[in-house]
Amino acid sequence: MNKLQLTQNSRLSLPSMQTEQLSLYYGKKAAFTDVTMPIAAGKITALVGPSGCGKTSFLSCLNRLTDLIPHTKVVGSIRLDGLEILNHRIDALAPLAEGIALRRRVGTIFQKPNPFPFSIWKNLAFGLQEHGIKNREKLDWLIETTLQDVGLWNEVKDRLHTSALSLSGGQKQRLCIARALVLQPEVLLFDEPCSALDPISSGVVEDLIASLRERYTVVIVTHNLAQARRIGDYAALFWVQAEVGRLIEYGTVEQIFTSPQHDLTAGYVNGIRG
Ligand SMILES: Nc1ncnc2c1ncn2[C@@H]1O[C@H](COP(=O)(O)OP(=O)(O)OP(=O)(O)O)[C@@H](O)[C@H]1O
Ligand SMILES: [Mg+2]
Repeated sequence: MNKLQLTQNSRLSLPSMQTEQLSLYYGKKAAFTDVTMPIAAGKITALVGPSGCGKTSFLSCLNRLTDLIPHTKVVGSIRLDGLEILNHRIDALAPLAEGIALRRRVGTIFQKPNPFPFSIWKNLAFGLQEHGIKNREKLDWLIETTLQDVGLWNEVKDRLHTSALSLSGGQKQRLCIARALVLQPEVLLFDEPCSALDPISSGVVEDLIASLRERYTVVIVTHNLAQARRIGDYAALFWVQAEVGRLIEYGTVEQIFTSPQHDLTAGYVNGIRG
């Protein structure tokens, strides 16, 4: 276990999240409505369902990325441990009661690897510097331990100051994961993190995400049901009904894949529907 993992593990506890009657509207159109769902601390929750059922929209509520999309309205409740993050007095970028901003506590990794057009080193240093860490030795140490954590250190240690855009797709995605991890978040949101990658890189990134279990609270959107089953502890099926996304079923991965309670879930996990 490297030093960063020790730091992460020394936290008192990881947060759970809970949504209650959560709905998101783009203008007048509902993307999804009435989602009441727990997100277990230190576990991997997989969100699955056909295109347009609201998975990305749901994810973007969890760290209020929706604040950045004009004409959105979020209704209901999202608690991060006890804290209501939809409270209008909370600014996603300003420190919460616990002293750390929501966006820093809840990090996001997107489908298409999107490193900044800077050096590999600067990609990780950037956020740290924004948060006031200027000491070069501390920056170097945090960057090295995080790159080790995502299995990238040996591949890039001799080219830290070359452009991150020169990395392969899989390496770029691991760098984006490192960029999130270096800020020591507690919750990580992944939106189809492997779907733009070749099968080998996808396997490497999937193994990396699986290794985050118990160290972070993870939510992952995936179209790959086999992947949801391999790495998820819990799974949630979303579906479009009357043009609105709905949570159809939530349960352990075991339950969702082997004894679903809802016909839509049974049809979807067996490849008959969706
Ligand atoms: N910025 C936006 N403005 C308006 N409507 C949007 C916006 N983003 C998403 N939508 C709509 O909200 C609904 C849910 O979209 P969302 O992207 O959350 O689905 P998804 O489950 O992530 O789909 P996919 O699997 O294709 O990524 C869709 O009807 C979509 O067209
Ligand atoms: Mg999506």
